[in-house]
Amino acid sequence: MKRIENIGVFTSGGDSPGMNAAIRAVVRTGIWEGFDMFGIYRGYEGMIDGQIEPLFSHSVSNIIQRGGTILKTARSKRFMTFEGRAQAYEHLMKHNIHALVAIGGNGTFTGAAEFTKEFDIPVIGLPGTIDNDLYGTDYTIGFDTAINTVIEAADKIRDTATSHDRLFFIQVMGRDSGYIALWSGVASGAEFILIPETKTYIDNLTRLVKHDIRKNKTSGIVIVAEGDDAGDAESVAAQVKERLPELETRVTILGHIQRGGSPTARDRMLASMLGCFDQSLERGTAGGYGRTDQQTDCLHTIRRSHQESQRNHSRPAGDVAGPGTVEGLKT
Ligand code: F6P
Repeated sequence: MKRIENIGVFTSGGDSPGMNAAIRAVVRTGIWEGFDMFGIYRGYEGMIDGQIEPLFSHSVSNIIQRGGTILKTARSKRFMTFEGRAQAYEHLMKHNIHALVAIGGNGTFTGAAEFTKEFDIPVIGLPGTIDNDLYGTDYTIGFDTAINTVIEAADKIRDTATSHDRLFFIQVMGRDSGYIALWSGVASGAEFILIPETKTYIDNLTRLVKHDIRKNKTSGIVIVAEGDDAGDAESVAAQVKERLPELETRVTILGHIQRGGSPTARDRMLASMLGCFDQSLERGTAGGYGRTDQQTDCLHTIRRSHQESQRNHSRPAGDVAGPGTVEGLKT
């Protein structure tokens, strides 16, 4: 493996709240460790097209609280081909980039695994997706914000459902994973939650709705994961209505509001902790997101930064930080 001096960071796939916090932590940790950091724009697409620029400590100022990703993102079909990956590698070499930090989900890491095998370039993966569907970590960056967005919406829908005596079907994202539906459903007190991980029987659902009606319940919420086997929320609502025509139903598809917004404290902390990657790179390993030892490394860095900042609080901050400076903690 080549000696690593320059590191590229990028976001890829669907964006998620907290990606900016992760970029910030990665860039400042890299600078702290003495690397030169480069941002790759629009994920693998930008890698193939050579959209690569240096990042400094000030480049990531004032972004920890912002949703979306300052590096932009894309889903790349071209990176699925060897030609695309070879072109991406060429651009990385032009900038002397010999290691990557990828922030994304399943597709991002599938691409990274292929790339690292073919081109001997270590890639560290940071789990960034609202879906919470990645192996190796309990939570992905963005999941907590997304479920809070759903809960807020469900609480509002609950008000109007109660006023009008209606059964609402709320469709949430997650692709083929039911995490968003399950967590937001439990936390908002939904009457029913439909997830792809368990088979949905519409007759059972209808029976349970009837049971609720018999108990004088006049309204309710069904959270439907978009990947549920019984269909999307429109289809599930239609199937229930067919069996219970007297029921007044409404469908709300929450859609991309789940992907935006200012990240919660939990997502900011997760992103900041996972963004500290120094030990993993020294080992030259690929992958390894969500590991406890990475988080421990991070806490060491934060602790060191605190000590340094207490000693140097009057020192003006520069763009390029080496070991012993306090860039890791600037906001
Ligand atoms: O993976 C994140 C996600 O928001 C899924 O929950 C959803 O199925 C998909 O992305 C939507 O993708 P797009 O924004 O490309 O339509």
